Amino acid sequence: MQNILEQYKSVAEAEVKTWFEVGTVSDFPENSGACIKYKTKQIAVYNFARKDKWYACQNLCPHKMEMVLSLGMIGDKDGIAKVACPMHKKNFSLEDGTNLAGDDLKIAVYPVKIESGNVYIGFSD
Ligand code: FES
Repeated sequence: MQNILEQYKSVAEAEVKTWFEVGTVSDFPENSGACIKYKTKQIAVYNFARKDKWYACQNLCPHKMEMVLSLGMIGDKDGIAKVACPMHKKNFSLEDGTNLAGDDLKIAVYPVKIESGNVYIGFSD
């Protein structure tokens, strides 16, 4: 179990080595999530059209190790974009991955860029 979680580490834009193309803007539903695969990682991608922003994070919820975050509801808490896990409703910031209730649990987040209608996620490997 631990190993699954260990492969997910947040990537800052300055650390990106690979911008991985995951599809076109129209492949992603507005204001909800989708799941893509990069190497052995499952990544949740959100087209947060209400905010005119895109976010990406690990699909794995660290609470019970379920691959479910792409199915979570996205929203806003005090201006911070967040996703609520569909299982037990833990809320994670999509900006920095912290648990918004202050729990120790944290998720990895990844930069997203849109270029010529294509969606790219930044990875450090
Ligand atoms: S599995 Fe995500 S909150 Fe419990």
